Amino acid sequence: MHILSRVLRRVRPMLSRVAKATEAPPRYPGVPVTSVAELDAKLAEAVLAEKTSDDALRVVLDGFWMNIPAAGVEDPWGAEYRAHQMEMYRIIAGKDYALANEASVFDVPGHILRPFPYSTQSAATVGDQLMAIGYIIRAMDLPAGASILELGVGWGNTALHLAQMGYAVTAIDIEPRFLELVRGRAERTGVEIDLRQGDFFSLADVAEKFDAVLFYEAFHHCDDHQRLLRLVVDRLKPGGKLVLAGETIDARLPYPWGVNPAGIAVYSIRRWGWLELAFREEYLLETLVREGWRTQKHPCPLTAAGITYVSVRA
Ligand SMILES: C[S@@+](CC[C@H](N)C(=O)[O-])C[C@H]1O[C@@H](n2cnc3c(N)ncnc32)[C@H](O)[C@@H]1O
Repeated sequence: MHILSRVLRRVRPMLSRVAKATEAPPRYPGVPVTSVAELDAKLAEAVLAEKTSDDALRVVLDGFWMNIPAAGVEDPWGAEYRAHQMEMYRIIAGKDYALANEASVFDVPGHILRPFPYSTQSAATVGDQLMAIGYIIRAMDLPAGASILELGVGWGNTALHLAQMGYAVTAIDIEPRFLELVRGRAERTGVEIDLRQGDFFSLADVAEKFDAVLFYEAFHHCDDHQRLLRLVVDRLKPGGKLVLAGETIDARLPYPWGVNPAGIAVYSIRRWGWLELAFREEYLLETLVREGWRTQKHPCPLTAAGITYVSVRA
């Protein structure tokens, strides 16, 4: 007995090392697609499902992922690695990336009355979005009257709540329809949001400094996130916060950062042309450290849309 327990004590750490090495990485749900032709077949299913409901569309999109080859280059901060990821995007989208690909066409007056997420009529989507926004506001933890710049304001869901709290909100988006939508919603709500059209890099032309720069479900559309992080620094007041919320930071991603293999992401790339990236958390946190940020993660327990990373200058 005595000998057996001694042997076990020596072997156990070895066994757990072997178990760790052979542990399968977390997998995306559904079946892998390996070619654009297979992706197009899924797209056709998605377009049909969409006619039934947003929830039916989600079921199709959660039913597959794309097996995208990794770069085969060591340095995820290097130009060669980035070129590979943009090439993967080009193959899936069927065209080179251009800012014009981020266009979103929708009925603005209709969405002023019933914007996303309400437009989906999905209990899951509406619930997740509402929980996420509350969580993000709490995680940002800004004092009354603070100034916030939101990049990629989209439907304005977060910006409108922030403006109603009395924060001074400035918002940038590349899509003029989104700005018109947010303008209409702000008027109906009786709040002011300083709306500006431009891409993420128009940050370089912004003169003011803010208490926080916020990205909510937007940062992953940027084609040079490393350069963008550098630009944010000069737009923050001393002690100001960089907030990344609801971004696609995903432990299942088989490479440090790059084209998001999830069904919903490759569908969006192929159908709309949007750039859909994802990041492994280790990579993003290391990038933030390299760029001189100190980051705190707020792991929203109820929905991934609420997971928030708040960074300040180290
Ligand atoms: C999912 S929406 C963001 C949702 C929004 N934050 C909210 O709270 O409702 C993503 C937004 O990023 C914008 N966007 C995408 N690429 C962009 C770019 N390069 N520059 C500026 N905005 C961009 C899109 O037009 C879209 O409005």
